Amino acid sequence: MSILAKRVSRLKPSPTIAVNNKVIELKAAGYDIISLGAGEPDFDTPQHIRQAAKAAIDKGLTRYTNVGGTIELKEAISLKFKNNNSLNYACNQIVAANGCKQVLYNAFAATLEPGDKVIIPSPYWVSYPDMVILADGEPIFINCPQEKGFKLQPEDLEQAITPKTKWLILNSPSNPTGAGYTYAEMRNITNVLMQHPHIHIITDDIYEHIVYDGFKFYTPVQVEPGIYDRTLTINGMSKAYCMTGWRIGYAGGPVNLIKAMTDIQSQSTSNPCSISQAASVAGLMGDHNFIAENNKIFRKRRDLVVSMLNQADGIECTVPEGAFYAYPSIKGCIGSTAPSGKKINNDDDFVSALLDSEGVATVQGCVFGMSPYFRISYATSTVLLKEACSRIQRFCASLKR
Ligand SMILES: Cc1ncc(COP(=O)(O)O)c(C=O)c1O
Repeated sequence: MSILAKRVSRLKPSPTIAVNNKVIELKAAGYDIISLGAGEPDFDTPQHIRQAAKAAIDKGLTRYTNVGGTIELKEAISLKFKNNNSLNYACNQIVAANGCKQVLYNAFAATLEPGDKVIIPSPYWVSYPDMVILADGEPIFINCPQEKGFKLQPEDLEQAITPKTKWLILNSPSNPTGAGYTYAEMRNITNVLMQHPHIHIITDDIYEHIVYDGFKFYTPVQVEPGIYDRTLTINGMSKAYCMTGWRIGYAGGPVNLIKAMTDIQSQSTSNPCSISQAASVAGLMGDHNFIAENNKIFRKRRDLVVSMLNQADGIECTVPEGAFYAYPSIKGCIGSTAPSGKKINNDDDFVSALLDSEGVATVQGCVFGMSPYFRISYATSTVLLKEACSRIQRFCASLKR
């Protein structure tokens, strides 16, 4: 008899981490690889945040803190919600954890009973379904096609709702598509939610600050205060503050849910790193000009990547509103044959043939729940992006149709 619990057999290890591991292996073997797989900014953590971390060590902030975060951090988060999102969350409605990943994990662990359903619009961030499954819930996917901007349509949401629906997960701007909901689009979704008071909402706002061309971000409760009591608003330091390794994510929500999530955390990891918490206070309370500067660079890269991809045979790429991903369609490459003789039947084949023949690592759309697409992260230097896109163009031109 296996020592492993059944739930482990339902779990897939993170496919994006698998791509990273393959890149490390190939680079170590001496291959010239450009990786467009990573979901993290290539910028360093801003100086004032690093400085605050060093000062925290010297001040002796090196001990256990409150499980759900220090008072200073919770107050900074509370202020952030107020200032950026017009949301009132008191400190007992806030929890900080080791990244948004742990916040999400704890939320599902605290709420899902076997058979509870969680609506996940697809394409989705890879971890949502597996986290739901780990907590004995059942993911219910709603297709959000490219023609609809990869965004959830209110009528499709309406159709997917059943009495067993516990949560809807929203993620705007999105990983993997970069799609962001306008006020009107978000309003259409919240209108449906107002008709179904048994549904709870998780909004993963981690890409809130990374938006382009004047796009205005709205979190669902801001658009419809009527869902405040059943929404968990999640955000974190990883992306906009270039702090992926520091592991700070947080959430605001109903007192009883936040307490349950904190209790779960108290029996697993306890508080997130005390030094990272002090650094996050500096990030949330300090100068934010670097975000606009970084976004200028991201926007140039986005425009470069979208334009070069649209010039590749068989690829069609829409312009993302935010985040640092592009999600091009490769419909026009399916059924072709690579120079190696490999047939391109799906996005798995495309991505592996592209890596083998041109050394460009990307992630296949099937892992995000929509094919035939692939995800490119443009959080890497312009020089490398140009080279990578030229290689993709050359690869597409080499396919025999
Ligand atoms: C949509 C989304 N949510 C959550 C996370 C996890 O972020 P964190 O580093 O805060 O755990 C990521 C990271 O890639 C993400 O893309």
